[in-house]
Amino acid sequence: MKTFYITTAIDYVNGSPHLGHAYEKVLTDVIARFRRQMGDKVWFLTGVDEHGQKVQQSAKKRGIPPQEFTDEVSAEFRALLPKLNISNDDFIRTTEGRHKTVVRAVLQQLFDKGEIYKAEYKGFYSTRQEQFLQDKDRLPDGSWPEIFGEVTEIVESNYFFKLRQYQEWLVEFLTKNENFVFPQFRQKQVLEFLKEPLNDLCISRPRERLEWGITLPFDEGYVTYVWFDALLNYYSAVADQPGLWPAAYHVIGKDILVPPHAVYWPIMLHAAGLELPRGIIAHGWWLQRGAKMSKSTGNALNPLDLVAEFGADAFRYFLIREMNVGQDSDFTREQFLVRYNSELANNFGNLVNRTLNMTNRFAGATVPAAELAEDAEKELHALWEKTRDEVILLCEGFQFHTALEKTFFFITATNAYIEKRAPWKLGKSAEAHDQALLRTSLATMAEALRLGVAAIQHVMPSTADKINAVLGYAPGAIWRDELTWGAKLTGAKVAEALVLFPRPEKPKA
Ligand code: ME8
Ligand code: MG
Repeated sequence: MKTFYITTAIDYVNGSPHLGHAYEKVLTDVIARFRRQMGDKVWFLTGVDEHGQKVQQSAKKRGIPPQEFTDEVSAEFRALLPKLNISNDDFIRTTEGRHKTVVRAVLQQLFDKGEIYKAEYKGFYSTRQEQFLQDKDRLPDGSWPEIFGEVTEIVESNYFFKLRQYQEWLVEFLTKNENFVFPQFRQKQVLEFLKEPLNDLCISRPRERLEWGITLPFDEGYVTYVWFDALLNYYSAVADQPGLWPAAYHVIGKDILVPPHAVYWPIMLHAAGLELPRGIIAHGWWLQRGAKMSKSTGNALNPLDLVAEFGADAFRYFLIREMNVGQDSDFTREQFLVRYNSELANNFGNLVNRTLNMTNRFAGATVPAAELAEDAEKELHALWEKTRDEVILLCEGFQFHTALEKTFFFITATNAYIEKRAPWKLGKSAEAHDQALLRTSLATMAEALRLGVAAIQHVMPSTADKINAVLGYAPGAIWRDELTWGAKLTGAKVAEALVLFPRPEKPKA
């Protein structure tokens, strides 16, 4: 069986998780669940990035030791996962022994091979980005862009990793593997970046300036640069599990593609004699009124508020339906409510309610067998076959938003089928054909609902479980078999009712 190892970025624990962090977990979870459904053996890793200046500073502000601070905030990040229905297999913290051991071993190995040297550095440094800056980073007027926060000039001796000597190798690798980064336009941006000569990477921070990090194995006076430490989590978490490395796909935001994930990381692995991951998926940003949602700008939304109000699955549905993976999206409550009310409560919720109500009313709560296949039934079958094939292809290409759109088109068509058959009218007729059509329509709507549920279960897993339960149905282990139009529900006993997407309470004025 093929292993599919998937990771999220590990979040800085200098503040509480926001909607952008939640989205990345949900997107990765949707990919992981989809691959499991497709029969892959999946290993899903997420975690937290606990070292570095930002965390040290945040702990200092709170007046507590960094370990205590990071224990607290990391627990908050971890607690978010079950609330979002995230199916991760592991959670890594960069302060864990298993991680530090691997980071130190890799550093020592690179040092012994002569890939790391000591030199004096003089220049500008951004604490917010934990990054040395160059003149080319300045704005045309000579000032530093906002994203760098406070920039200070420093002179110090440090250790450098020989990045530059691998530039041509990386260009060649990316040229040969043109789907390494998804979406493809981002891979072009990496190659664009590599047109300029690379600088060697400073991988140490003197202890006087930064204490909160992994001590260099070959010089106790220094700690490891946070990015060199953090990137290695993907490997350290599975180093002792055969078959996982290099099966990795990394899901990250576009802000940390170039240079950390698309330049430093492949070169670090290559220099250490390790294989490269299978690919990188770079998603876009959630914005609020056009600006990136972030801890530092204070425009961040707490995902837990939305989950408390609407439930995890509605939240997941919105994030996945709204964002085209790779593009940015503006988050507004209005847009959330439009989708919640019209797509989930009205369209989907309605199909569930009608199916339950009518099966109870006209068939003694037992799903009958379909007896006829007239045009209306044949059309709905045909639409399902087309929808299913499209959904699989779209999900394989990370086009989950369009896959949902297609599935919901099928749900709309099923509601239209019900309108057309009007079981409430057929129920009044004593004619044999009408009675057969009534049973057929009940069987058809139940089967269509079952199929629709199978097609969205990676996005709304607990909703899928609930609906299957009220349909008296236990899905089989092979997902593809679940996608075949059949008579799987014939004879099933359905429940009376299920309120899936209650109307939100009006916000108090
Ligand atoms: O960058 N919309 O951590 P981080 C979408 N520790 N995604 C967003 C976002 C937004 N508004 N804001 C942040 C780090 N993200 C490093 C990663 S990996 C070895 C180390 C995403 O807490 C962001 O793009 O700043 C990144 O992928 C993740 O959240 C963590 O961001
Ligand atoms: Mg960030």
